[in-house]
Amino acid sequence: MGLLKGGINEIIATTSHNAAPIGIHYRDGKATMILFGGSHTAANIERDGWVVANIVHDPVLYVKTAFEDLTDDAFVEEPVGNRTMYRLAGADAWIAFSAAVEKKTGEAIVVALTPEREIIENAVCYPVNRGFNSIIDATVHATRYRANPTPKLRHLIDYHSDIVKKCGGKKELAALSLLEGYIGQH
Ligand SMILES: Cc1cc2nc3c(=O)[nH]c(=O)nc-3n(C[C@H](O)[C@H](O)[C@H](O)COP(=O)(O)O)c2cc1C
Repeated sequence: MGLLKGGINEIIATTSHNAAPIGIHYRDGKATMILFGGSHTAANIERDGWVVANIVHDPVLYVKTAFEDLTDDAFVEEPVGNRTMYRLAGADAWIAFSAAVEKKTGEAIVVALTPEREIIENAVCYPVNRGFNSIIDATVHATRYRANPTPKLRHLIDYHSDIVKKCGGKKELAALSLLEGYIGQH
């Protein structure tokens, strides 16, 4: 697999007219997702057997898709084999996967991914930006905080928010203000 790197790849997963940030675990040549809590992504994958991993670098899109739905014009239809899949219109690159539920527990499903197609739409390079990285971290904590608002999670969100304010550009600051709207400020 070319685009995924070893470890957990934080991509935006698209299923039928749905998008959400999800981690793809890629280790020893095997790609999997662990999906918690009855998400739309989990239900769609169980029903349709496919998912697209969108590689994007828009912090606003990570925050937005973690908390709400996108309108239909955010998706592009892609025929892959004999199926129609959907990717994000703004994806720099995308990987279409067949997806099979490998394991199911009360709280999560483990999904095994088989790549069907990999396309680079825009060859772009991004210098490391701690503000962008911290938006991703803050958003992970914020999705948990919404379900379980503990002081520890609030502290982690605040820690990452400070880094976004110090190191982020305009897009990271816009993403942070959106995030604060979803979880409420102090
Ligand atoms: C960077 C990032 C990575 C995430 N990874 C996962 C994951 O691997 N599994 C999961 O179940 N939720 C993960 N989430 C949380 C989901 O994105 C979140 O629950 C979302 O609301 C699910 O949306 P859906 O119901 O439209 O599928 C992640 C969130 C972020 C911000």
